[in-house]
Amino acid sequence: MSTDGVNHGRRRMLIGATAAVGAVGVVGAAVPFVKSWNPSAKAKAAGAPVTADISRLEPGQQMTVEWRGKPVWVVRRTPESLATLKKVAGDLRDPESAESLQPDAAKNEHRSIKPEFLVLVGICTHLGCSPLYRPEVAPADLGPTYQGGFFCPCHGSTYDMAGRVFKGVPAPTNLEVPPYRYDSDAVITIGESA
Ligand code: FES
Repeated sequence: MSTDGVNHGRRRMLIGATAAVGAVGVVGAAVPFVKSWNPSAKAKAAGAPVTADISRLEPGQQMTVEWRGKPVWVVRRTPESLATLKKVAGDLRDPESAESLQPDAAKNEHRSIKPEFLVLVGICTHLGCSPLYRPEVAPADLGPTYQGGFFCPCHGSTYDMAGRVFKGVPAPTNLEVPPYRYDSDAVITIGESA
Protein backbone atom coordinates (compact mmCIF):
# COMPACT_ATOMS: atom_id res chain seq x y z
CA MET A 1 0.00 0.00 0.00
CA SER A 2 2.81 2.33 0.88
CA THR A 3 4.48 1.30 -2.41
CA ASP A 4 1.25 2.22 -4.14
CA GLY A 5 1.32 5.67 -2.59
CA VAL A 6 4.97 6.22 -3.53
CA ASN A 7 4.32 5.19 -7.09
CA HIS A 8 1.48 7.64 -7.41
CA GLY A 9 3.66 10.35 -6.01
CA ARG A 10 6.50 9.51 -8.35
CA ARG A 11 4.12 9.44 -11.30
CA ARG A 12 2.75 12.80 -10.30
CA MET A 13 6.27 14.18 -10.06
CA LEU A 14 7.18 12.78 -13.48
CA ILE A 15 4.02 14.18 -15.02
CA GLY A 16 4.78 17.56 -13.49
CA ALA A 17 8.31 17.52 -14.88
CA THR A 18 7.09 16.53 -18.34
CA ALA A 19 4.45 19.25 -18.35
CA ALA A 20 7.03 21.85 -17.38
CA VAL A 21 9.37 20.75 -20.17
CA GLY A 22 6.44 20.78 -22.57
CA ALA A 23 5.52 24.34 -21.58
CA VAL A 24 9.09 25.53 -22.10
CA GLY A 25 9.13 23.81 -25.48
CA VAL A 26 5.91 25.59 -26.56
CA VAL A 27 7.16 29.02 -25.51
CA GLY A 28 10.45 28.40 -27.30
CA ALA A 29 8.64 27.40 -30.49
CA ALA A 30 6.12 30.26 -30.38
CA VAL A 31 8.66 33.06 -30.77
CA PRO A 32 9.96 32.21 -34.26
CA PHE A 33 6.39 31.47 -35.40
CA VAL A 34 5.15 34.91 -34.36
CA LYS A 35 8.18 36.55 -35.96
CA SER A 36 7.56 34.89 -39.29
CA TRP A 37 3.82 35.64 -39.13
CA ASN A 38 4.19 39.40 -38.58
CA PRO A 39 5.72 40.96 -41.69
CA SER A 40 8.46 43.46 -40.88
CA ALA A 41 7.77 47.17 -41.35
CA LYS A 42 10.04 47.08 -44.41
CA ALA A 43 8.13 44.15 -45.94
CA LYS A 44 4.81 45.89 -45.26
CA ALA A 45 5.99 49.06 -47.01
CA ALA A 46 7.11 46.94 -49.97
CA GLY A 47 3.66 45.46 -50.33
CA ALA A 48 3.24 42.49 -47.98
CA PRO A 49 -0.44 41.66 -47.41
CA VAL A 50 -2.05 42.96 -44.22
CA THR A 51 -4.90 41.43 -42.25
CA ALA A 52 -7.81 43.37 -40.80
CA ASP A 53 -10.36 42.34 -38.19
CA ILE A 54 -13.68 43.67 -39.49
CA SER A 55 -15.85 42.05 -36.82
CA ARG A 56 -16.38 45.26 -34.79
CA LEU A 57 -17.46 47.39 -37.71
CA GLU A 58 -21.05 48.48 -37.18
CA PRO A 59 -23.42 48.97 -40.14
CA GLY A 60 -22.60 52.31 -41.74
CA GLN A 61 -19.09 52.55 -40.24
CA GLN A 62 -15.79 52.90 -42.04
CA MET A 63 -12.33 51.76 -40.90
CA THR A 64 -8.94 52.47 -42.46
CA VAL A 65 -6.08 50.00 -42.81
CA GLU A 66 -2.66 50.85 -44.20
CA TRP A 67 -1.42 48.75 -47.11
CA ARG A 68 1.63 49.61 -49.23
CA GLY A 69 1.66 53.02 -47.54
CA LYS A 70 -1.85 53.75 -48.80
CA PRO A 71 -5.12 54.04 -46.86
CA VAL A 72 -7.48 51.15 -47.55
CA TRP A 73 -11.04 51.62 -46.37
CA VAL A 74 -13.44 48.96 -45.26
CA VAL A 75 -17.04 50.16 -45.12
CA ARG A 76 -19.89 48.09 -43.76
CA ARG A 77 -22.80 49.11 -45.95
CA THR A 78 -26.37 49.15 -44.74
CA PRO A 79 -29.21 47.67 -46.84
CA GLU A 80 -30.30 51.27 -47.51
CA SER A 81 -26.92 52.30 -48.89
CA LEU A 82 -26.73 49.15 -51.03
CA ALA A 83 -30.15 50.07 -52.43
CA THR A 84 -28.76 53.42 -53.68
CA LEU A 85 -26.38 51.65 -56.09
CA LYS A 86 -29.10 50.94 -58.65
CA LYS A 87 -30.65 54.39 -58.25
CA VAL A 88 -27.49 56.28 -59.21
CA ALA A 89 -26.24 53.98 -62.01
CA GLY A 90 -27.41 56.35 -64.79
CA ASP A 91 -25.35 59.23 -63.35
CA LEU A 92 -22.06 57.32 -63.24
CA ARG A 93 -19.18 57.52 -65.68
CA ASP A 94 -18.26 53.82 -65.47
CA PRO A 95 -21.16 51.98 -63.79
CA GLU A 96 -19.93 48.53 -64.90
CA SER A 97 -16.35 49.30 -63.79
CA ALA A 98 -15.06 48.43 -67.26
CA GLU A 99 -12.30 51.08 -67.11
CA SER A 100 -11.60 50.76 -63.39
CA LEU A 101 -9.31 48.65 -61.24
CA GLN A 102 -10.70 45.81 -59.14
CA PRO A 103 -10.06 42.08 -58.77
CA ASP A 104 -12.39 39.78 -60.76
CA ALA A 105 -14.27 38.75 -57.60
CA ALA A 106 -15.27 42.40 -57.09
CA LYS A 107 -16.23 43.19 -60.69
CA ASN A 108 -19.93 43.46 -59.99
CA GLU A 109 -22.46 46.16 -59.17
CA HIS A 110 -21.48 46.38 -55.49
CA ARG A 111 -17.74 46.07 -56.32
CA SER A 112 -17.02 43.67 -53.48
CA ILE A 113 -16.82 39.98 -52.62
CA LYS A 114 -19.65 40.26 -50.05
CA PRO A 115 -22.18 43.02 -50.74
CA GLU A 116 -22.13 44.25 -47.14
CA PHE A 117 -18.40 45.01 -46.93
CA LEU A 118 -16.81 47.44 -49.37
CA VAL A 119 -12.99 47.52 -49.58
CA LEU A 120 -11.40 50.45 -51.45
CA VAL A 121 -8.06 52.17 -51.83
CA GLY A 122 -8.84 55.58 -50.35
CA ILE A 123 -7.06 57.67 -52.98
CA CYS A 124 -8.89 59.86 -55.48
CA THR A 125 -8.26 58.78 -59.08
CA HIS A 126 -7.92 62.44 -60.13
CA LEU A 127 -4.77 63.72 -58.43
CA GLY A 128 -4.44 61.51 -55.41
CA CYS A 129 -6.15 63.32 -52.52
CA SER A 130 -7.95 61.18 -49.96
CA PRO A 131 -11.74 61.57 -50.33
CA LEU A 132 -14.05 61.82 -47.35
CA TYR A 133 -16.63 59.19 -46.45
CA ARG A 134 -19.98 60.97 -46.73
CA PRO A 135 -22.74 58.39 -46.32
CA GLU A 136 -25.54 60.90 -45.68
CA VAL A 137 -28.34 61.26 -48.22
CA ALA A 138 -28.87 64.79 -49.60
CA PRO A 139 -26.66 66.78 -47.16
CA ALA A 140 -26.89 70.55 -47.67
CA ASP A 141 -23.38 70.93 -49.14
CA LEU A 142 -23.65 68.06 -51.65
CA GLY A 143 -27.14 68.67 -52.95
CA PRO A 144 -30.56 67.02 -52.95
CA THR A 145 -29.66 64.25 -55.42
CA TYR A 146 -26.59 63.03 -53.51
CA GLN A 147 -27.30 59.51 -52.20
CA GLY A 148 -24.21 58.92 -50.05
CA GLY A 149 -20.69 57.87 -50.97
CA PHE A 150 -17.33 59.62 -51.03
CA PHE A 151 -16.46 63.25 -51.70
CA CYS A 152 -13.02 64.53 -52.61
CA PRO A 153 -12.52 68.01 -51.14
CA CYS A 154 -9.59 68.86 -53.46
CA HIS A 155 -11.57 69.37 -56.69
CA GLY A 156 -15.04 68.10 -55.85
CA SER A 157 -15.11 64.57 -57.32
CA THR A 158 -17.92 62.40 -56.00
CA TYR A 159 -18.19 58.63 -55.86
CA ASP A 160 -21.15 56.45 -54.93
CA MET A 161 -21.35 53.86 -52.15
CA ALA A 162 -19.38 51.41 -54.31
CA GLY A 163 -16.63 53.95 -55.08
CA ARG A 164 -17.97 54.49 -58.61
CA VAL A 165 -17.28 57.96 -59.98
CA PHE A 166 -20.05 60.31 -61.10
CA LYS A 167 -20.15 62.00 -64.49
CA GLY A 168 -19.05 65.63 -64.73
CA VAL A 169 -16.33 65.56 -62.06
CA PRO A 170 -12.54 65.63 -62.58
CA ALA A 171 -11.81 62.04 -61.44
CA PRO A 172 -11.58 59.77 -64.51
CA THR A 173 -12.24 56.32 -63.02
CA ASN A 174 -13.80 54.58 -60.04
CA LEU A 175 -11.82 54.23 -56.82
CA GLU A 176 -9.57 51.18 -56.92
CA VAL A 177 -10.60 47.97 -55.18
CA PRO A 178 -7.40 46.26 -53.97
CA PRO A 179 -6.95 42.50 -54.11
CA TYR A 180 -8.32 40.97 -50.89
CA ARG A 181 -9.78 37.76 -49.54
CA TYR A 182 -11.75 36.52 -46.55
CA ASP A 183 -9.77 34.41 -44.10
CA SER A 184 -12.97 34.03 -42.03
CA ASP A 185 -16.19 36.03 -41.65
CA ALA A 186 -14.30 38.35 -39.28
CA VAL A 187 -10.89 38.70 -40.92
CA ILE A 188 -9.79 39.81 -44.37
CA THR A 189 -6.35 39.89 -45.92
CA ILE A 190 -5.64 42.89 -48.14
CA GLY A 191 -3.03 42.50 -50.85
CA GLU A 192 -3.84 38.96 -51.97
CA SER A 193 -6.81 37.60 -53.88
CA ALA A 194 -8.60 34.42 -52.83
S1 FES B 1 -7.75 64.95 -56.30
FE1 FES B 1 -9.79 64.37 -55.92
S2 FES B 1 -10.91 65.69 -57.18
FE2 FES B 1 -8.87 66.22 -57.62
